[in-house]
Amino acid sequence: MNQFSYQHGQLHVEACASQDLAHTYGTPLYVYSRAQLTHNWQAFNQHLPKPHRACYAVKANGNLAVLQVLAHLGAGFDVVSGGEIARVLKAGGRADSIVFSGVAKSHAEIEYALDVGILQFNVESLAELERINQIAAERGTSAPVSLRVNPDVDAKTHPYIATGLEANKFGIPMRDAVAAFKRAHSLEHVHVVGVDCHIGSQLTELAPFLDAMDRMLALVDELAAIGIEIAHLDMGGGLGVTYDDETPPAVADYIQAMLAKIEHYPQLALYLEPGRAIVANAGILLTRVEYVKPSDKKDFVIVDAGMNDMLRPSLYQAFHRIENTSTHQHGEAQKPCDVVGPVCETGDFLGQERKVKAAEGDILAVFNAGAYGFAMSSNYNTRVRPAEIMVDGNQVHVVRQREQLEQLWQLERTLEL
Ligand code: LLP
Repeated sequence: MNQFSYQHGQLHVEACASQDLAHTYGTPLYVYSRAQLTHNWQAFNQHLPKPHRACYAVKANGNLAVLQVLAHLGAGFDVVSGGEIARVLKAGGRADSIVFSGVAKSHAEIEYALDVGILQFNVESLAELERINQIAAERGTSAPVSLRVNPDVDAKTHPYIATGLEANKFGIPMRDAVAAFKRAHSLEHVHVVGVDCHIGSQLTELAPFLDAMDRMLALVDELAAIGIEIAHLDMGGGLGVTYDDETPPAVADYIQAMLAKIEHYPQLALYLEPGRAIVANAGILLTRVEYVKPSDKKDFVIVDAGMNDMLRPSLYQAFHRIENTSTHQHGEAQKPCDVVGPVCETGDFLGQERKVKAAEGDILAVFNAGAYGFAMSSNYNTRVRPAEIMVDGNQVHVVRQREQLEQLWQLERTLEL
């Protein structure tokens, strides 16, 4: 199922013509498809019957409407800050469906999470465990904890988004895990509910997930032998999507392979924290061609979206398919081109060495922009961040207005000179 298809000579999002959207709401413009989002969520949900569950990783796209649609479908949430907890609650998500990851949980964030009653803390260090215990004690309560263990598995992905190697800052090293669980078990104001890991993002093979799972299950066995029962095995997120020609495992195969591994663990619930696989292909970024600047070897297609709107190509050399929304401009351009933005950095590009045909005023679509797109945007170069809209059939909802310039400096003050 794909909600982004060419009809009547131009790209449509569900029933809406992309160029009409660009003209009505302006560019750059993030456009999400509710149907695609729903479909992606259902793929996870249908293969994870209770007590298993998927907790959507809010960091991939925290727009309130995205969270609302998912909450409405019964999603759980994986968050990494007090801000993300607040977003989930604001969008109608349940506190008791939230798992709280992240290496630097502050005192205030832990208090907040305890007060609203989250499902579990994914604890990343012994120091954090002690802090949670102390804060829970002050409040006369007990915190549900899962310890994040670093399984030391190579996720075979971009080094910036690999997290499960010993060299990374995340989790408790496997060799210290049993001692950490013993400590947790002995503390009065935490109760151990789980073990978790997250080995990286944009993984396109099953093997690293299954390898990590074997290591986690060996730990579950070791803990059982000393009387520590684990109820939740949280394997994190990380399932990749097709940006170019990658062939990541299908959601069903990924989940079934994992469930098969816990067949003989009737007490164990599998938790997953998918982000990208839920939202990436549910969103595109529409951008207008400002100028086409020819040069000998290649042309520069200069568009109105830059690295501040969509950072992934600049930061990770990530590939995003870029197409002209008009089929009249399909087919290969004579010369390769770089699709570049307005930001004053050489690294400000959306795509390099492409064969996109484009003329001034054309609307281009950057695909698979729903995950880590708007979420990583900034105001660099004093650029207002784009609007976000959600298409639902032939209806359009503005789910975030385009920023206004005055908002960019509303918190700033000049000196009295
Ligand atoms: N759980 C934890 C603990 C995580 O750290 C992450 C992502 C996820 C779940 C969700 O992973 P996903 O299913 O989306 O792969 N900005 C980068 C991705 C950073 C991912 C960080 N952690 C990018 O644009 O590729």
